[in-house]
Amino acid sequence: MQRFKNVLITGANAGLGRETARQLATQPQVETIYLACRNLEKATAAKIDLTNQTGRDIFEIVIMDVADPDSVRRGVQEITTPLDAVVLNAGGSGGKSPNNLTKDGVTTIFAANVLGHTVLVEELLAKQLITSTVVYSSSEAARGIPRMGVAKPDVEDASVEEFTAIADGSKFGPKADPLAIYGTIKLVGTLWMAAMARKHPHIRFVSMSPGGTAGTNGMDDLPFLKKFMFKYIGGSIMPLFGMMHSVEKGARRYLDALESISFESGHFYASHAGSPTGPVVDQVTIEPGFSSVSAQDNAYRAVQQFA
Ligand SMILES: NC(=O)c1ccc[n+]([C@@H]2O[C@H](COP(=O)([O-])OP(=O)(O)OC[C@H]3O[C@@H](n4cnc5c(N)ncnc54)[C@H](OP(=O)(O)O)[C@@H]3O)[C@@H](O)[C@H]2O)c1
Repeated sequence: MQRFKNVLITGANAGLGRETARQLATQPQVETIYLACRNLEKATAAKIDLTNQTGRDIFEIVIMDVADPDSVRRGVQEITTPLDAVVLNAGGSGGKSPNNLTKDGVTTIFAANVLGHTVLVEELLAKQLITSTVVYSSSEAARGIPRMGVAKPDVEDASVEEFTAIADGSKFGPKADPLAIYGTIKLVGTLWMAAMARKHPHIRFVSMSPGGTAGTNGMDDLPFLKKFMFKYIGGSIMPLFGMMHSVEKGARRYLDALESISFESGHFYASHAGSPTGPVVDQVTIEPGFSSVSAQDNAYRAVQQFA
């Protein structure tokens, strides 16, 4: 079991990120939790809530928009204490215009879920500010959740060109399902993590899905019908059928990935086939493609072009 003193969490002002900060703060050895957030007002409110809830004055705000590599670089400059661990949690459906291109030439949803996090980790490594573990928030959508109507990502040859087309959105037609786009993007982030695990064997890189989690804001920007189904119908009915769990359980998965070395570097853990909740399993047992070294390296190369 690993225990950490200094941890940074992206997207820490809400949902799974904030709950992860709360659970970590209950551990007496934790000295600093960096709340990496894009909005100072929301970050300050979260810091006050967390301090009151936990009785611990250990939360530091770092302003960082993970959809903007320059903002990420500026944020890293504010970190002076080496971090034991980082939770790459920010992301989700990509806001109101997820398919718009950023100044870096990728879609906003790709930037928020993948590009900014890759810049963050590379910057931390270059400045020797990360010493132990990186956990990436992946999703069961990265291998499909047929029971919830989320198709398996449609990847043809896993080439650099194909991953580039996922990053800049040109792979997807105008009518593409937003959840399929989201899942395909989380797949690229997950493959990038596996490539990083091989390049940096002294750091543990674990992709972990928090699982279908009710009560977060994660579905807010989906088109109306999807949001209605997942957030309102899903939030109340799906838990009854074991298809969604609480934010406490979702965040607990991140902590498990952080703390237990039984979660191996370069691997992706999420719910077993057929369900987005319950015990996690190594996803290579469901989708062998996750272990493809060429797919991992091609995802890495595709992302590097934009960073
Ligand atoms: N909930 C689920 O069922 C589920 C399942 C699998 C994976 N996930 C993943 O879990 C992670 C957290 O999701 P959640 O459900 O907790 O959603 P949430 O309640 O919407 O929280 C998302 C957090 O990420 C932040 N964020 C989004 N884009 C950002 C950006 N560009 N820069 C900095 N911060 C940004 C948000 O900040 P603002 O408040 O400023 O928007 C918020 O703090 C996401 O990566 C999501 O894909 C969730």
